[in-house]
Amino acid sequence: MRFSLSILARWLTITLCSGAAAQGGSFTPGAVWLDTDGHPINAHGGGLLQYEGVYYWYGEFKTGRTYLPDCNKSWGGTRVDTTGVACYASTNLADWKNDGIVLAATPQDPTGDLAPSQVLERPKVVYNAATKQFVMWMHIDSPSYGAARCGVATSDRPTGPFHYRGSFRPNAETWPVNATAADQQAAPTNYLARDFHTGQMARDMTVFVDDDAHAYLFYASEENPVMHVSLLTDDYLRPASQYARIFIGRSMEDPAVFKHGGKYYLIGSGCTAWAPNAARSAVADHPLGPWTELGNPCTGPDATNTFHAQSTFVLPRPGHPDEFIFMADRWQQWHLPDSRYLWLPLEFNSDGRPIVRWQEHWSQE
Ligand code: DGJ
Repeated sequence: MRFSLSILARWLTITLCSGAAAQGGSFTPGAVWLDTDGHPINAHGGGLLQYEGVYYWYGEFKTGRTYLPDCNKSWGGTRVDTTGVACYASTNLADWKNDGIVLAATPQDPTGDLAPSQVLERPKVVYNAATKQFVMWMHIDSPSYGAARCGVATSDRPTGPFHYRGSFRPNAETWPVNATAADQQAAPTNYLARDFHTGQMARDMTVFVDDDAHAYLFYASEENPVMHVSLLTDDYLRPASQYARIFIGRSMEDPAVFKHGGKYYLIGSGCTAWAPNAARSAVADHPLGPWTELGNPCTGPDATNTFHAQSTFVLPRPGHPDEFIFMADRWQQWHLPDSRYLWLPLEFNSDGRPIVRWQEHWSQE
């Protein structure tokens, strides 16, 4: 009986919401959002790219059984087998056409980075105008999340297929720009020595492209308590050997970075696996920092757990010059494919802090 009721509830939700992510231009955070074929949009931990008047939404395509590998039992790290990265296209942020899997898992290569058993999370795509390449960065990991690597893929079209170029840990044998003399003296016993020859761990990540075309990779590192931000090479394919340790000891993940009024802003969360926690915001005069925390940007019911969600991206809000759209995932730990999306307007307070107000419905016009 419980089973059929839940199927009925799901059918009702889809039927009542059918047609588009935003019904009549009104977004309902946390509802099932449908693509233009009437199927639930499947692009988790995602990011958007605007290119030639079209928005492309890239994210983890999650399907199949959610399971808890033995190696993750202590912290509840459920997962589904990796399928690949999905891409959807839209001109109005409401109607999303499914462009399919643009980077596919490789069941035929069960030991490779893209094997279904491996982790592929938080893909972000940026466009390099100089090389005319679309560059995808993503978190690649072993099932236990112990590998903690960056993966890179490229395509000459936004809709792929993307060519996977491999994974690595960034910044081997490179001191961070903000390493203190004490840090360097403490080697070989400190954090740097541990990862100095193999590179720095990299988990939740995002890429931010500045107005001057410099790109920066932000990633949770050093087992997660420290975030790193790394300048990328001009082709956006490798770290450029200039990086900084930021939010030291703050265990921040899922970074979303944007620029407003000449300053850089970051929204992220604490590290509590799939469970939501309070979002955090921060500001800096340069992507490499120093960064100053500004507190939880969310306000309204359940603001202390980011409205049951976790940030993934922040997009400039079309038609609203000083506003952005805060994008987050409402994870379903035990049924990951049914995780939902939560987009909300982001404004700035009179004191210059970003603020995200809860709204049941809102219109993007
Ligand atoms: C939180 C991260 O933000 C997600 O991308 C994912 O890695 C989960 N942890 C896994 O528990």
